[in-house]
Formats: sequence, structure tokens, C-alpha cells
Amino acid sequence: MKIATEIEQTRDIISFWKKEGFSVGLVPTMGYLHEGHKSLIERAVKENDKVVVSVFVNPMQFAPNEDFDSYPRDFDKDIALCENAGAKLVFHPEPDEMYNKNFTSYVDTAQVSEGLCGKSRPIHFRGVCTVVCKLFNIVQPDRAYFGEKDAQQLAVIKRMVDDLNMNIKIVGCPIIREEDGLAKSSRNIYLSAEERKAALILNKSLKLAKEKIYAGEKAAEKIKTLIVDMINNEPLAKIDYVEIVDWDKNLDEVKVIEGEILTAIAVYIGKTRLIDNFIVKC
Ligand code: PAJ
Repeated sequence: MKIATEIEQTRDIISFWKKEGFSVGLVPTMGYLHEGHKSLIERAVKENDKVVVSVFVNPMQFAPNEDFDSYPRDFDKDIALCENAGAKLVFHPEPDEMYNKNFTSYVDTAQVSEGLCGKSRPIHFRGVCTVVCKLFNIVQPDRAYFGEKDAQQLAVIKRMVDDLNMNIKIVGCPIIREEDGLAKSSRNIYLSAEERKAALILNKSLKLAKEKIYAGEKAAEKIKTLIVDMINNEPLAKIDYVEIVDWDKNLDEVKVIEGEILTAIAVYIGKTRLIDNFIVKC
């Protein structure tokens, strides 16, 4: 497996592969990799001849009050995981390599990026789209892999690719969880032992909501109330949002649960903001 820190070097390696006729899959990440990321890399390895993993904590998607500086990093461990999962190249640029000092171009995807996480993180998806667009231009993959863990991010990237005619297939991959149900996340490391237990409320409330939907409940408001009440009973938890939206259109709020539906939540456990969700087809 190769490691590249420069764009030119990355392009040279990939253009050699392309000349040989190899298909290329890309898994964009911010590092501190876990089983969730690994599942994306393994899927990409199955579906492409060569897989590139980018490891870049993208400053543009963090607001000044967010955790860019303290975001966990462990590049040696990341390399071992990528190699183990079958990746052939890790692209690990410094911020200066990605953003030169005259940088002024942005990719902004309206509508799908405005609700849910976009409400409390207004500049976030512009940063995500801009960096992912740059990674797509650098790597020019046939396919790129994103987790349903960040469901809105997946929807926003799909929209960007459709709207801007990017010739890349976006593959969504299921959420990987700890044994007790907590969705794997690089940010779980921030949780104290007590908070780690409290964090189970995210998945527990979603599981109950899903059961009610499968049992026939159609009123979105009732499902939302159920989730809100359960989370509010956990003293360490503070809700950022609980939303039920359409998954196959614009992520607009729905009143009636029918068609493809995303139930998404963001909850502070202490100072750590965690997200989780489920998608159902009714
Ligand atoms: P990061 O949080 O490192 O996540 C990289 C990819 O891994 C995303 O597509 C995310 O949805 C997926 N992922 C994370 N946890 C997962 C889990 N438990 N199960 C399945 N997939 C999971 O998302 C980002 O980085 C950045 O915004 C990025 C797209 C790299 C742009 O900077």
C-alpha cells in the first residue's frame, strides 16, 4: 500500500492505474478509523480493482466553536487498518496542500443541506461538498463510498453529484454499531464511562420508534414524541434535533410515515454531539 501526501503524487499513481485499465474506488475519511470506515473500505475493495482512502481532517467543515483542533488523530493506526482492509493508496494531505492561500471557490448544495445537521452546523455541508468535490477531482474515482451513519451527508453528496454531472457512482453503506448498539464514531472517544452508558439512549429510542413504525404507526408526530420523551428521561442527554423526513426526495419533514423515510437525531451527551438514524421503506 502506498501513502501520498501530495496531490501530484496521488494523481501520478492513479493515472498509472487508469492506463492499466483498473477501476478505482474512493473512501473519503477524516481518519481515526474504526470498523465503520473499515466496512466502507472492504465494500470498495470488493467492487473496484484499486481502492484509495483519503485521511484528511477538513478544517472547512468545522465552525470556529467546533472540535477541529481536538478531533482525534492516529495516522499509524489508520494506515494499518487501511492496509488490512485491502486499500492500495492512502492520500493524507496537510491543509496547505488542499487549500492554497488564495482559495475562494466553494460547492454549496442548497435545500438538502439546510435542515437536520445543517440547522445547527450552517457552514458544515459547504465544507463537506467542497472537500469531497476536490477529492473527486484529484482521485477521479469510478465509485465513492459513504456511510448511512451520516445520512444527510450521503444525501447531500448524491445531490451534488447529480446536479453537477459528476461521473461517479455514490454507494451508501449501512451503519456499523458497537455490540450494545451505539453507532461507531470517531467522536465516541470523547465520552466518559458514564456518558458512554448514557449514549445508548440514541439507539434505544430509535429502536423503539422503528418497532412502532413496523407495528403500523403512521403519525410522525407520535413517533417523534416517543423519541423525545425517552431521550429527555436521560439526565446526561440534551436533544439538538429529532426529525422525520423523506429519504428519497429533499429531506423535507413528513407528517405521515409512508414511502422511504429517514428518522434522524442529534443529541449532546455531555459536551459530545452524537448522531444516529434509521431508514425505513413503508
Ligand atoms: P468521517 O466522519 O471520518 O467518516 C467517513 C465515512 O465513514 C463517512 O461516509 C461516514 O458516514 C462513514 N462512517 C462513519 N461511521 C460509520 C459507521 N458507524 N458505520 C458506517 N459508516 C460510517 O464523514 C466524514 O468523515 C467527512 O465529512 C468526509 C466525508 C470525509 C469529508 O471531510
